[in-house]
Amino acid sequence: MSVPSSRRSAAVAALLAVLLALAGPASATPRHGSSPGPGAGDADLLVIGHRGASGYRPEHTLAAYELAARTGADHVECDVVSTADGVLVCRHENDITGTTDVADHPEFADRRTTKVVDGVALTGWFTEDMTLEELRTLRAVERLPDVREENTLYDGLYPVPTLEEYLDLRADLSRELRREVGAYVETKHPTYFDSIGLSLEEPLLAALRAAGLDRRNAPVFLQSFETGNLRELDAAGVRVPLVQLLAVSGAPADLVAAGDPRTYADLSTAAGLAEVATYADGVGPEKDQVIPRDPDGTLGEPTSFVADAHASGLLVHPYTFRNENTFLPADLHEGEAPDDYGRAIEEQLAFWATGIDGLFTDNPDTGVVSRQLFEDGALPEAG
Ligand code: G3P
Ligand code: CA
Repeated sequence: MSVPSSRRSAAVAALLAVLLALAGPASATPRHGSSPGPGAGDADLLVIGHRGASGYRPEHTLAAYELAARTGADHVECDVVSTADGVLVCRHENDITGTTDVADHPEFADRRTTKVVDGVALTGWFTEDMTLEELRTLRAVERLPDVREENTLYDGLYPVPTLEEYLDLRADLSRELRREVGAYVETKHPTYFDSIGLSLEEPLLAALRAAGLDRRNAPVFLQSFETGNLRELDAAGVRVPLVQLLAVSGAPADLVAAGDPRTYADLSTAAGLAEVATYADGVGPEKDQVIPRDPDGTLGEPTSFVADAHASGLLVHPYTFRNENTFLPADLHEGEAPDDYGRAIEEQLAFWATGIDGLFTDNPDTGVVSRQLFEDGALPEAG
């Protein structure tokens, strides 16, 4: 277990005190290595609705979450950011310029600003500059209208949900569907939100506790592209599985901020994954880390990533699987248009065959079909 940096020591100490109070005594069972958790090496292959069923509804709306569950997602993902008054809401980014109608609200025109988040200068409107009451006057819009023109049908219909609403919906759908619809919550930009006094972890764990989900075997995963907050959650004895998100390029923002030179590529080596396994239960790699594309854009050969992760007892949940040509390997395209559906099931069969434990998809129904075919013995087509 690493020691938190002195730069953040006061904040970390305060956070740990809150987390320890919420989490209760740490488990006597090791989180890592010998206890890989649900899905690793068994038949519990997970279909995770990425931002809901965002292939069919504007992402991170209750409508998208509900459709994900109804079309078979085992877990439904919610990315969380904070409002000015410290309420966690479901957005992929704190920059809500492209996923809400905020630009059409003249009363918020003076909130448009430029700020640096994780080293990137962004101009737009931000959740942390609005109270929840203000944010709730906005409505979600489709983030990818050029690719998902059909989803614009729903523009303007749905508010930005809170984490609490997402968890309530999860519970309601679990009762109705008579199965546990799992949560899969990602903290977005935790170092940035710490820096502006809107730490994400305390309200997240409070919400889980209020929902009765801060317990072992709760149908919940917590995930982050940063390392520090996952280490802190682990150190505090949080009982639900933790997932370290990875990427083909770049580095965790907390490591960059601390001057640590390690990149996602470093964390994705066998040795790096063994280190990740000291504080996390799984990894969420970019799908190209599992099967990269060849130079011509076609699907290449699997890497050793899954075997390396499993050797350290880590679950592997790659992201993000989508039906449209523009997101598929060149050899799996159908038709000419970027928004035409390609042979997404073939892509997913190739990935299931690598031994992954689940996948994030914008089209949960497609994920359910590919998983069933895989479990029935279908194999990816060669070449
Ligand atoms: O959390 C898995 C996947 O959602 C990570 O990518 O950018 O869509 O949050 P992103
Ligand atoms: Ca996410």
